Amino acid sequence: MPADITTDIFGLFPPGSAVDPDGELVVGGCRLVSLAARWGTPLYVLAEDAVRSHVRRYRQALAAEWPNSRMVFASKAFPCTAVYRLMASEGIGVDVAGAGELLMALAGGVDPALIIMHGNAKTPAELRMAVDAGVGLIVIDNTNDIDRLEEIVRAEQPVLLRVIPGVRPDTYEAVATGQAGSKFGLPIPAARAAIDRLRHSDKLRLDGVHAHIGSQILDTEPYARAVEAVAGLGDFGVYNLGGGLGVRYTYHDDPPSPEDWIGVLAAAARRHLRAGAQIIIEPGRSLVAPFGVTVYRVISVKGEDPRFVAVDGGMADNLEVSLYGQRFEATVTSRVGGGRPVELVGRHCESGDRLISGVPLRDPRPGDLIAVAVTGAYCYTMANNYNGAMRPPVVFCRGGESRLVVRRETHADYLSRDVAP
Ligand code: LLP
Repeated sequence: MPADITTDIFGLFPPGSAVDPDGELVVGGCRLVSLAARWGTPLYVLAEDAVRSHVRRYRQALAAEWPNSRMVFASKAFPCTAVYRLMASEGIGVDVAGAGELLMALAGGVDPALIIMHGNAKTPAELRMAVDAGVGLIVIDNTNDIDRLEEIVRAEQPVLLRVIPGVRPDTYEAVATGQAGSKFGLPIPAARAAIDRLRHSDKLRLDGVHAHIGSQILDTEPYARAVEAVAGLGDFGVYNLGGGLGVRYTYHDDPPSPEDWIGVLAAAARRHLRAGAQIIIEPGRSLVAPFGVTVYRVISVKGEDPRFVAVDGGMADNLEVSLYGQRFEATVTSRVGGGRPVELVGRHCESGDRLISGVPLRDPRPGDLIAVAVTGAYCYTMANNYNGAMRPPVVFCRGGESRLVVRRETHADYLSRDVAP
């Protein structure tokens, strides 16, 4: 563990985060203590300007390396209307994985032509919805998709074909998708047959191929291999190379920068793909994770070794820990950095509901606020009602102003779906 955690913790909070003269942690110009007083806890906070400038940085890097390119936000990383609207206002499209995300993207003002629909089990109703909405690209995962679209499409629908490049990146098993045996896409021989079929379709226009090798990938080399693998399928107008770039969750993570990642993709594309082809990338996590913070209130503190610090949230608002064992870092918002290691645990009925094991916190007491860093991706997405937890609200912070973009779930919401009381 680095000696000077006090300094280093800022490297994990959104750029511009600081401690104010009262010793309070400030994110997006807003004191977290004030946000908690206004909006309650647990609370998801997203530093809006930081997301916006990261999207711009990504776009610049992509345009510099491969001018005929575009990026879409993999919206499963943070699917709320305000995030869709933010991405649309930055001029990028989104990928959606089903009807719910599609509806929300449309509600958020995303141009349907810039939407890409994914899914390994898209229902006929979802495919119809995508076609009717004018979704720009539907990604064919299997031959049933082809059968169904042939029935649904009236005029012409541009499609990509998802292929399994046979690349296993070094990441959690549950989020590796590029290896042989993956449930997503078709292996190369089956992909060749599907390409042949699609090339003879008069309704489905095969624009190109898609490969997404996984998520939280901290190494660029597998991407070069994936590009080479898809290049072997033939010459296409579009190559969607997916997302998956990992982020720095802890002091020791050292992910490639967007520039590094895009540089490797472009170098591989220069070697293996036609110069005029369009490249699409679809990052999710790396566009939002580092710019989100979850704020909790400490409810109880007990024991010496281990010392348990229990907060008012846990695996209902952050499944990353229990699903993948993802390590996070955190601080007391009014005594930032330092302290001795404690077990930061949630309030749910499982021993696995341990938000961070051995996280240094300075003198945590009941009533304190805890900020967990780098929670801007997939935490909101996978929030659930375990033990009757109400899903937390989302607040955007920008230049010291906060605005509520998703309200907290209420007990009335919670009860409202039960139709036979
Ligand atoms: N494209 C496709 C087709 C995907 O399936 C995904 C993520 C992405 C792009 C974006 O990947 P990213 O840049 O966010 O790594 N629930 C897991 C994450 C699953 C990722 C699923 N697919 C988690 O909580 O970590």
